[in-house]
Parts: sequence; structure tokens; C-alpha cells
Amino acid sequence: MDTRADAPRRPWPNERWSRIPNWVYTDPAVFQREQERIFEGASWLYVCLEAEIPRPGDFKRSQLGTKPVVALRDGDGLVNVVLNRCAHRSAQFCNANAGSLKEIVCPYHQWTYNLKGELVGVPFRRGYHGQGGMPAEFRMEEHGLQRLRVSCRNGVVFASFSDATEPLEQYLGPRQLASFDRVFDGRELELLGNLRQRIPCNWKLMQENIKDPYHASLLHVFLVSFGLFRLDQRSEVELDETGRHAVLISRRGEQVANEATQEMRNFRADFALEDKRLIDPQREFPGDATVAMQTIWPNIIIQQQSNTLATRQIVPLDAGQFDLAWTFFGYRDDPPELRQRRLRQANLMGPAGYVSLDDSEALLISQWGIDPNPEADMLLEMGGREVRNETHMVTETALRGFYKYYTEVMGL
Ligand code: FES
Ligand SMILES: [Fe+2]
Repeated sequence: MDTRADAPRRPWPNERWSRIPNWVYTDPAVFQREQERIFEGASWLYVCLEAEIPRPGDFKRSQLGTKPVVALRDGDGLVNVVLNRCAHRSAQFCNANAGSLKEIVCPYHQWTYNLKGELVGVPFRRGYHGQGGMPAEFRMEEHGLQRLRVSCRNGVVFASFSDATEPLEQYLGPRQLASFDRVFDGRELELLGNLRQRIPCNWKLMQENIKDPYHASLLHVFLVSFGLFRLDQRSEVELDETGRHAVLISRRGEQVANEATQEMRNFRADFALEDKRLIDPQREFPGDATVAMQTIWPNIIIQQQSNTLATRQIVPLDAGQFDLAWTFFGYRDDPPELRQRRLRQANLMGPAGYVSLDDSEALLISQWGIDPNPEADMLLEMGGREVRNETHMVTETALRGFYKYYTEVMGL
């Protein structure tokens, strides 16, 4: 029996991974343990795109789990990720979302750090007229900002709090790495814009949502009616060996009624777009997939829906709410017409996106059902009780994979 103070009040159900107890979405002790074991544990956490901090001195604020951080590019062109906490008395020294600076000066007592986070200045360190100041044995080099391990791959910045995290390529595994490299293929990225929304539900529901192809065919009028992502299309769900990462791949279909659409209440054969350019895709990646939605443990979704590309960073705030930070991008060498196409298709996404707003609402009503019923379980049996790759969408296999790894890491 688990006797730790933060142990959950009720054991995990016997049907592991096909039943998820509702208390994992509500219990503050579970949330606390997630921060320690997942976000501050052996994970690579998405921070930002390198294109957001292209020049020396550029910085971008980010948040990894509940820990605020700053990513900054130093004079050597390298990316550093430091805790947004002054080594003096913990002030959060950076309060702009992004910008450029020569050095970091904490507003409170003006301790100064260079772009690598090393302490380079302490006002009145030697006192004033022989009075006060820091003790003689005070060592500047012992009081820099806390730096995280950083790994950049093809323009994407990841950081880790733990020395035990394996190299990023190994962490992703060969299949997920291939999917990552399909979008981040080494071409220089171009930032197209940021969106941010707060969703009042547990952060894991967001991971589940993107790992869940079943809902996409039923909830989203837009995806179903215009054939952007529907379960009668040729599809795959692929997981890494641990189950923690997954990618959902599909190919665009037509707006035709068939045996499958009969079970989709939200299929509207009579709906038409005034301006069809909104969803008009242009082939740009190898292979015939038109949608690839990748979830990388624990805080990042990589979206390729037609030509709209984005990262979505999950920032848990407490057990009952998280922020979703969207970063839309293209490639530096995109012709203007393709850039325009990406921006037009971005209307499907974000807090008010024609597709994504359905998800925000689905997450909200899920939490509304969970909160008053902590003793109930989620049922994840679509497609069986196994964790394995599938070549169809009528499955919750990727959600089971997530919880297979989750229970391992959390010791539940
Ligand atoms: S708290 Fe930052 S300088 Fe004092
Ligand atoms: Fe969705």
C-alpha cells in the first residue's frame, strides 16, 4: 500500500489503462507529484522555436509545468534556458513576453546576469565607505541563474530539469523522430504568430484530445463535413515504445455521404464554404498524409493540418486549469502565396478556430463531469484494451499508451 502523504485516496482500477480514475484530473497531490516526476523529471519539455529568438540578446518567456523560464540567445549564438527567478531573493526578473536585451538586470536590487545566466554584477557588493556589502567569501560564480539542460533540434528548443533524461533523439524514438523531422526538416523556420488561451480543465485532457481520433469524426462539423479528418479515411495511429508519444496520420477525403457518415450526426452534406480557399491544401511534405498530429510527452503538440503548422504548448497551472500556447510557423523560404495559405488555414485553429473551439468546449464539459464525480472512472476501451499501433481511427490506443507510461512514472 502506498503510504506517502501525497498518495491518492483510491487505488488505480484493475483494468489498467482502459480505466482512468477521475481523481487524476482533480487531486492537488497528484498534480504536485506530476510536477516533480514528470515536468521536473526525466522529460524533454518544449520551450519555444529558435525562430522566436533569432539574434543574440533575443529572449522569450516560457513556462515548463509550473516553473517560469526564459529562453535567451547568447553572444555565441547558443540558446540558454534559465529559471525566471533571481538568485538573490527569487524575484521573477523577466516580465515581458519577448524582446531583446544586452544583459539581464533584476529590477529589485539590480543584480546583473549575462546572457548565459552568469552573475556579473551586484550593486554595493563591497559596501559603501567600508560599511556593509557582501561577505568577503561571496563568490559570483556560485550565484548564477539556474540553467536547464537544453537540446535544440531543427529549430525547436527543448529543456530538461533532469540529468537523467536521455538524448532527445533517443527520447523520441525512431518513428516519432521521423514524424518530427517531417515537419522540422532543417529548413529555417519563420514565426507567423502566437495565440494563447486558458482552458479550465486538467492538462491531461488536452493530451488525450489530440491522441483521440475517435472524437474527430463525431465532434467536429468542419472536419467531418469537409473531409479534413474522418474515420473512413486511410489513417494510422503510431506510438513510441513507451506509449508516451503518438502521432495520428490521415489523408484528406471528399464531402460525400457514405456508410461511415451515417453514424456521424455532424456530417452535413449540404454545407458549403463561400470561400473554398479556407481549406484548400497544397501538397508540401513527402508521402500522401495531409494531417499529422503528434503529441510529445509531456507538454507539446505538433500540428500539421493541411498547410497550417503550429506547436501547441501545454502549461499546467493547477489540477483544474492549463494554458495552451499556440505558435504558428512556416519556412523562411515559403513563397508569399504559401505563407498566405498557412495563415488562411490557421482560421481552423486557436481559441476561436472553426475546429479547435469545439475541443475547448469538449474539454470544459469533461471537467464539469469529472469534478463532482471523483469516485468514477473514465472508460478507454475503443479498439480494445491493448496499447499498440493501429491503421484505423476507431481506437483509444494512444490514450492507453499515455496512461501506461504515466502510471509508470507516477508510481501509481
Ligand atoms: S531579488 Fe533580484 S536583485 Fe534582489
Ligand atoms: Fe478535436
